[in-house]
Amino acid sequence: MLNKVEEAGSNKNTFFELLGGEASGTESIRKLVETFYDIMDSDPKVLPLRAMHQADLTSAREKLFMFLTGWTGGPQLYIERYGHPVLRKRHLPFAIDESARDQWMYCMIKAMHQLGFEDELMKRLAEQLYGVADFMRNQ
Ligand code: HEM
Repeated sequence: MLNKVEEAGSNKNTFFELLGGEASGTESIRKLVETFYDIMDSDPKVLPLRAMHQADLTSAREKLFMFLTGWTGGPQLYIERYGHPVLRKRHLPFAIDESARDQWMYCMIKAMHQLGFEDELMKRLAEQLYGVADFMRNQ
């Protein structure tokens, strides 16, 4: 069983539908994740967040893409490959405080803006992701 926060996204399976469902939902999430990490990799405002990650972001990109596809209600790619996400536990090695959480959300919101996400969708997606990001906080 997924915990409440990890489940929140999958219950909103409309997100995957709103992002294009089977036709283009996967592609939308791929673009969102690529843009998110491009921002993390280049925006000086999030240098501390970038520094927590490996030099090569390839695996982080792939894992977040797989996770978010399932979390939004699409195919459970992450779970099929890696099993239960135990996200909070996987984030324990990193010192995640309010600032790290806010830097993560900053990249995500900036990515949604860059991709021209519709306001209401952006707001709802951001609210749900904030719940997960805050749950990752360990200090
Ligand atoms: C709150 C701020 C967050 C910070 C500082 C953070 C940081 C990190 C770091 C440093 C990694 C390791 C990446 C690497 O290998 O270089 C990681 C992995 C990952 N993060 Fe986050 N993260 C945050 C929030 C989130 C959120 C909100 C989600 C999901 C919506 C998420 C999903 C993931 C996933 C799926 C992985 C890969 C886990 C694995 O299988 O190893 N993270 N995160």
